[in-house]
Amino acid sequence: MKNVTEVISDRRSYRGKYKDQPVPQEMLMNIMKAGLAAPSGCNKQTTFLIAVDDPTILRRLHDAIRPPIGETAPAMICVLTKKIIAYRDRCFQVQDYSAAIMSMLLAIEAYGYSTCWIEGHITDKDRIGKRMSGSKS
Ligand SMILES: Cc1cc2nc3c(=O)[nH]c(=O)nc-3n(C[C@H](O)[C@H](O)[C@H](O)COP(=O)(O)O)c2cc1C
Repeated sequence: MKNVTEVISDRRSYRGKYKDQPVPQEMLMNIMKAGLAAPSGCNKQTTFLIAVDDPTILRRLHDAIRPPIGETAPAMICVLTKKIIAYRDRCFQVQDYSAAIMSMLLAIEAYGYSTCWIEGHITDKDRIGKRMSGSKS
């Protein structure tokens, strides 16, 4: 297994075709545990994760992502966040989910898989994230 410095320097975003091979659910759980082990501001733990490997649900999620990216990936981890006040008027949900995603990207690299953080598509004005969640508004 690679050491942590190798994992950090070898990690790259992958946007090519993925092998048609399922990711073991235990592996998905380990990756999400790595994400949730990340620090969060005032330990408010504002990040929530949903792993999707069901081909029908994956297809529906990918159908919402335009332009398409990573659509042959056999699994997707959706990152949800909740704006929770940490102290006074400070909320750290963006930092929290960024730390969680980074931990997952490194775990994914360590396990020998490829991945890509896809956010620009999801959270911009096209409201793709809303469509992925099934919201009509
Ligand atoms: C906040 C954030 C949002 C990102 N959104 C997207 C995205 O929507 N689509 C995409 O292809 N890559 C996205 N990326 C990946 C970056 O494009 C990528 O990390 C950057 O080009 C550096 O390449 P590397 O990851 O291979 O080192 C995002 C990365 C971050 C940190």
